[in-house]
Amino acid sequence: VAVAALLAGTGLAANPGAAPGVPHDHGPGDARTEGEPTRRVTLTAGTATVRASGRDVAAWAFNGQVPGPELTATVGDVLEVRLRNRDIARGVTLHWHGYDVPNSQDGVPGVTQAAVLPGQEFVYRFRADQAGTYWYHTHAVSDVGVRMGLYGVLVVRPAPVTGVDVTVPVHTLSGLPLPAPSTAPVAAGTPVRLRLINTDSTTHRYALAGTPFRVAAIDGSDLHGPTSLADTAVLIPAGGRYDLVFTAPATPVALFVDGRAVYSTGPVSTATGGWPVLDPLTYGVGSPVPWTRFDRTFTLVLDRGLDLHGLLPRYAHTVNGAADPDIPPQVVRLGDIVRFTIVNRSQAVHPWHLHGHHVLVLSRNGVPATGSPLWLDSFDVRPGDVWEVAFQADNPGMWANHCHNLKHADAGMTLHLMYR
Ligand code: C2O
Ligand code: CU
Repeated sequence: VAVAALLAGTGLAANPGAAPGVPHDHGPGDARTEGEPTRRVTLTAGTATVRASGRDVAAWAFNGQVPGPELTATVGDVLEVRLRNRDIARGVTLHWHGYDVPNSQDGVPGVTQAAVLPGQEFVYRFRADQAGTYWYHTHAVSDVGVRMGLYGVLVVRPAPVTGVDVTVPVHTLSGLPLPAPSTAPVAAGTPVRLRLINTDSTTHRYALAGTPFRVAAIDGSDLHGPTSLADTAVLIPAGGRYDLVFTAPATPVALFVDGRAVYSTGPVSTATGGWPVLDPLTYGVGSPVPWTRFDRTFTLVLDRGLDLHGLLPRYAHTVNGAADPDIPPQVVRLGDIVRFTIVNRSQAVHPWHLHGHHVLVLSRNGVPATGSPLWLDSFDVRPGDVWEVAFQADNPGMWANHCHNLKHADAGMTLHLMYR
């Protein structure tokens, strides 16, 4: 029996050209950027023509491919990634989406580094201390850069893998779906982990037909006491990741994205459209919130409004009535337990993304989260929603906190978290 699988054993091949101990562009004094790299890779950004759905499409690519090379590591590895920009005129950076790296490695131009211009390079280095499913993307003119193809998968595994462990980034390039990856047969009884990554700017709906499954992790964090699901869809917000696990059955399995089978091991004719959608806030076995008092609280009201600060007034996506760069930063102190409430007063979905930290979901629309503790870095704040989340301020620096509909982020909906 075959399960559609992207088995390509890509990953961070050791780069024999890189000398040990080369200087890297880290800030001083952070032990998490020190150590002899155990995984090295060079990512060269450049304009490229890639094949998508039988057509040639103009793209921006890492090492000539979209998505870029899949980076894999094992917990404990020290990753060193050399970013080169061949000819992307507007500059490139690497942001490790969902990976709580030291601030100097976060890849936000104008905040943690300058954009890497054509002919320049920047070396990132950090210890892989979080297992899970992540991705990387440029953060320079990110709306354009990510849409053009400057992104890829980052998977950090706790230990060498047994069974099948497959990553499925979903993205479209200039409106065309990317070609399906190759498939490989998987024997019945094999454990399979499907890592689903939404690298798009809007929500996608995923449905796995032909097998019961459970959600093992969301945004790189394992869930407690997951329950077995069948005929259930999951909605993954822009930037979000879900790991689904199942045992390969003797009959075909198919993964549907937005109603279309993107991977299948044989004919599975199932109407997945009417399936109920999993609510992650109630999934798994709950445990009490670890914090009872908060050192600081913030409220972010998301809306649409007029930005009067430029030469001409423009419509912007606003936070507390202001648009980037006029939104006051959230200021915290190292060690603070911080609670923030996000209220969506607009008509649009805003997939929220805080850099450098994971937030614990406390409640949505007044209803407490009762499932497995949900530590998220990307979550959909729908029109009318009120989310209450909390985090520990344990990663000093200046961090972007923004909507991951990257059009919205570029049109005002970006603020910063700052340590004082
Ligand atoms: Cu994936 Cu600031 O972004
Ligand atoms: Cu938004």
